[in-house]
Amino acid sequence: MCGIVGYIGNKEAFPVLINGLKRLEYRGYDSAGVAILNGTLDVYKQQGKVGELEEFVLSQKVQGNVGIGHTRWATHGEPSDANAHPHLSMNGKFSVVHNGIIENYARLKEDLVKHGFVFSSETDTEVLANLIEFFYNQADDISAETAVQLALSKVVGAYGIAVLCSEEKDKIVVARKGSPLVVGLGNGEYFVASDASPIAEFTNHVVYLNDEDVAVLDKNNFTLKNIQNNPVSMKITNLDLEIGELDKGDFEHFMLKEIYEQPKTIEETFRGRLKPEYSEIVLGGLLNVFPRIMEAERIVIVGCGTSWHAALIGEYMLEEYARVPVEVEYASEFRYRKPVLTEKDAVIFISQSGETADTMAALHLAKEKGALVLGICNVVGSSLSRETDAGVYTHAGVEIGVASTKAFTAQVTVLTMFALKLAKAKGNIGEEEYQELVKELSQIPEKGKQVLENNEAIKQVAEKYKDAVNALYLGRGYLFPVALEGALKLKEISYIHAEGYAAGEMKHGPIALVDDNLPVVVVAPHDAYYEKIVSNIQEVKARKGNVIAIVTEGDKGLKEMANDVIEIPKSHPALAPLLAVLPLQLLAYHIALLRGCNVDQPRNLAKSVTVE
Ligand code: G6P
Repeated sequence: MCGIVGYIGNKEAFPVLINGLKRLEYRGYDSAGVAILNGTLDVYKQQGKVGELEEFVLSQKVQGNVGIGHTRWATHGEPSDANAHPHLSMNGKFSVVHNGIIENYARLKEDLVKHGFVFSSETDTEVLANLIEFFYNQADDISAETAVQLALSKVVGAYGIAVLCSEEKDKIVVARKGSPLVVGLGNGEYFVASDASPIAEFTNHVVYLNDEDVAVLDKNNFTLKNIQNNPVSMKITNLDLEIGELDKGDFEHFMLKEIYEQPKTIEETFRGRLKPEYSEIVLGGLLNVFPRIMEAERIVIVGCGTSWHAALIGEYMLEEYARVPVEVEYASEFRYRKPVLTEKDAVIFISQSGETADTMAALHLAKEKGALVLGICNVVGSSLSRETDAGVYTHAGVEIGVASTKAFTAQVTVLTMFALKLAKAKGNIGEEEYQELVKELSQIPEKGKQVLENNEAIKQVAEKYKDAVNALYLGRGYLFPVALEGALKLKEISYIHAEGYAAGEMKHGPIALVDDNLPVVVVAPHDAYYEKIVSNIQEVKARKGNVIAIVTEGDKGLKEMANDVIEIPKSHPALAPLLAVLPLQLLAYHIALLRGCNVDQPRNLAKSVTVE
């Protein structure tokens, strides 16, 4: 949700900023801008993608070694040139890029208007720029850093900001609360960004800022304080990020690359953790808290979007095998609905980014109530990974496509290992079944490769249904959350209205939608529910619906009954989600592509939702 980048050093700032913004574009892409400080403070910004900004600025021959940039996902004010960042303060002394929401902006604006400030945008960020200038003008000895601290002490809400001051030429002031910021430490140069992807090619030494940190970067110095101006100790972290991960390689889109990476990323997720030869599962990150997990009377799993779907699969596994009561919650509901939480609860927060605002707020609530807070997270060093008591990284590598794919299968892999480990420790799973599951999980990458070989066939199915207006996805048991995830993928990137349903619920509403225009994707491998789901398929067929069935290879019955079938290899039912979701991701991808949609940057969405 908005990407920020900043550079100070001896390089030309603009190329660093524009390449950084391209890496951050997954966070928002409705407008973009940069400010360069080189004698004067010059701002270039416009509605549209980063590529368009690049063309526009290159024609201006911009020069300077200090600058900030922004790619926007609109919150206050529609996407427009005026609302694009950076925002200048009224007298042009300050330029600000901001990720987050200033909740009390209206009141602050009113006060500033009374002091004669005039506004040229509808954004909360311009309010902040003017508030900083207001404090700066109060006395001659107030520095830009102090003005930022004073302004932020008046602000309610979330921010990651980078600020330039025309009167303090070799300096960038940055600060965070709620929205991530990471500073890269180079040799005679510093970088700042919303995540490490714009920084990784220059340095692998970074400092993740904590809430209320205010940092000042000049060419040779980096100081860290808090809003109250007290010094803060800094922890330098080594980045472990391959530059190749940030490129599309031979693929047309990041989403397709990430779908194809899954056999490898699932293996990465269990590498060193799953030891089929010893029938052992090692989750080092949970070691210290495992006794507390064993004692927990209940497990609550919290997430948003795709992470919430992974949580549902975790619930089914944990209840079936570990026999612990589990509840799954949307973070946005959980944080406000006054849930009953005690020290006897273990709460698992699942997040690809580790920065989702609702998930972080839910985490703070659970912590406050004394529950054990655990994380399943993909981004190393993210807020979630730093604020939980313990956790497990998914190791899926950088995910750039806005619609999550490989992060989902990595989350499900972690949850599977966790459920089996707990089940075994509690003595609630038979040795034979445990060993079978451990062994089968280790075989999923190979089976996943087989599923991806169906790509051409899936493309043909996509051709048939690309003009659908609605679509229904059905599944039972472990495959119900997969139906939800399949529908979400289609909705996110192709803009076809799609609903995921528990197949048994079809008769309670969705069946009314079935006619000869409706594609119904049914996840129907050969498991304990097979006969029941075959009945559901018949009910759809009887009403002339078009059934696309995901079936176990060799299934003859459904081949005759369904309009189209996509085969997946046979697997243990609990592990079927890891295979069944792959054709659904590909189906959504091809349909979106055929409809001319931007699959990596779907309209109105952002990868990392750092505002409510
Ligand atoms: C956004 C993304 C989704 C993601 C969700 C939760 O909506 O577009 O792909 O599933 O946020 O994000 P998280 O980083 O917390 O998993």
